[in-house]
Amino acid sequence: MCTNRTQFLLLIVMLAVSLNGCSPPSENHQEAAVRSDMEVAEALYKKNCKVCHAQGINGAPIVGNQKMWTGRAEQGIDVLVDHAINGFGLMPPKGGKSHVTDEEVRLIVEYYLEQLKKS
Ligand code: HEC
Repeated sequence: MCTNRTQFLLLIVMLAVSLNGCSPPSENHQEAAVRSDMEVAEALYKKNCKVCHAQGINGAPIVGNQKMWTGRAEQGIDVLVDHAINGFGLMPPKGGKSHVTDEEVRLIVEYYLEQLKKS
């Protein structure tokens, strides 16, 4: 009796685990959408911003460098996006790439903040 019960419980647990392994498709799609957004952002960053932000040219905060973003990241995404679009200190508006749209700038800044979470 006792073994049967244990086996039964084990079966339930296995069932739960296997069901869990198959998450609803909508969730997967959402994750995929976020991932590809970040891929788009990374490509935009490489093309338009990396030249300064990978090495800290003129004091540009290096992407993913917690220390260099301290005090900046805290301003919040809206202020950061505003600074990136309109220029800030030694950073020219949009890094001098006026063809980059405001939406793209926002996406890149989201990517910057995402990199801070990782490091
Ligand atoms: C010509 C070099 C250069 C390019 C290209 C460049 N940046 Fe910058 N960026 C800087 C510098 C320098 C700073 C630091 C400005 C300061 O604090 O005086 C900065 C700062 C920033 C900040 C922080 C602003 C703040 O409030 O602290 C953001 C966000 C940013 N850049 C986004 C971007 C994005 C997005 C791009 C690409 C579209 C980009 N930058 C391209 C030089 C550049």
